[in-house]
Amino acid sequence: MKKVVLGVTGCIGAYKAPDLVRALRKRDLRVQVILTRAAREFVSPLSLATVSGEPVLEHLFPDAEPGETAGEGPDPTGGVRHISLTEETDVFLVAPATAHVIARMALGLADDFLTTFHLAVRAPILVAPAMNTNMLTHEATRGHLRTLRERGAAIIEPGEGELACGWLGPGRLAEIPEIVEAVEHALEETATRQDLAGRKVVVAAGPTREPIDPVRYLTNRSSGRMGFELGEVAAARGADVTLVLGPTDLEPPAGQEVVRVETAREMRDQMFAAAPEADAVIMAAAVADFRPAHNSGFKLKSTGFRRENATSSLALVANPDILGELGAARAADSGSGPAVLVGFAAETGEPEGESIRKLREKRCDLIVGNQVGQGRVFGLDSTQAVLVESHDGQAPSVSRREPESKRALADAVCDVIVRRLERRPPAGIAERSEAKRSSPSQP
Ligand code: CTP
Repeated sequence: MKKVVLGVTGCIGAYKAPDLVRALRKRDLRVQVILTRAAREFVSPLSLATVSGEPVLEHLFPDAEPGETAGEGPDPTGGVRHISLTEETDVFLVAPATAHVIARMALGLADDFLTTFHLAVRAPILVAPAMNTNMLTHEATRGHLRTLRERGAAIIEPGEGELACGWLGPGRLAEIPEIVEAVEHALEETATRQDLAGRKVVVAAGPTREPIDPVRYLTNRSSGRMGFELGEVAAARGADVTLVLGPTDLEPPAGQEVVRVETAREMRDQMFAAAPEADAVIMAAAVADFRPAHNSGFKLKSTGFRRENATSSLALVANPDILGELGAARAADSGSGPAVLVGFAAETGEPEGESIRKLREKRCDLIVGNQVGQGRVFGLDSTQAVLVESHDGQAPSVSRREPESKRALADAVCDVIVRRLERRPPAGIAERSEAKRSSPSQP
């Protein structure tokens, strides 16, 4: 049975929490309630424990409140409850969520059971705000909700109507069936889809490093994080993943074959070696477009540059366009190479036009366009992308994404890959049956 951890926070909407618990339990879900101190003013722990069938969690430390029942700090199993609970959690739902708790979650504060648990849990997070209209539309609250959304939480929008304060407007806790539906949707999403099982996905990630001399090089700001998310999501959905990784400080996720490269030319060789066996190739790497024309075998000395008004220049030559070459090779030998070829476009301007151009020029199936610079994208967890997809003989389609986590974007890219791979045999099988057909020794 799946477990929903329900955080109930202190506002009038908390009186609906027992009904919410009952509605969730009717869907065959176990419910563990966490109550904040303020929520206790609106709903009793005893009612919630009775309807959920589980003791309510309230305190981080045992006996935190003199005179109250002992707290839940130490786990009966010997661990720490706000951590051990994370392992049992399939969805974390905060309903109703007050402006104050939303702000604490957005800021990453951790001063009670609910907020500490929030930082530790890795299950999907759903937040159902409930508050006065002005509080909801205040720039601070809107900013905090945006932050939570960008980190991957789903916000269950509050309804409009008469509020407890007598106002009319948005701010009412969403209706219980709507909240239950959001929980079920999140559970469906996380039920590990194995729609890439039997598929081979090759992801190029990170920057490349182009040597000037034994101690200096040209590179860029890519962290490799987007490629890591793509590899992790594809692997979670059943794919056999190879990560061709340029030099980055971040540790690649476990469970994937990692091939480390340094320069664009090394990356090209590894991508061409892996591509024939791949169903999908994703170029999420920030490949250096140029490299120094000469890689000095010894350290270049600064002496010559120190003269007053001295200038110097570094001669550059173009690196291979790996994605363009993969696309061209596939087009030249139709039927060979990966069925799905995905590229990225990092643009400081509006990404849509350039993504369409790159889709055509590099002959790929999907370009994920991102705006970069001014603190956007590089090294961050969140992004706002545009997906530009090719369609045989038709104009490309353009789909603009809302701001979202790189993980959510990786899922959306995998959705496109799964759709395009439908009814195509896995690359390995196609290769083998091709070999069979062309081998004269076969009966
Ligand atoms: N790419 C590549 N080899 C290169 C440069 C880019 O394979 N030498 C790939 C990237 O991994 C990405 C796509 O091509 O998937 C677009 O990369 P981007 O840097 O946005 O575009 P460029 O082709 O370099 O064009 P420009 O720099 O002019 O925007």
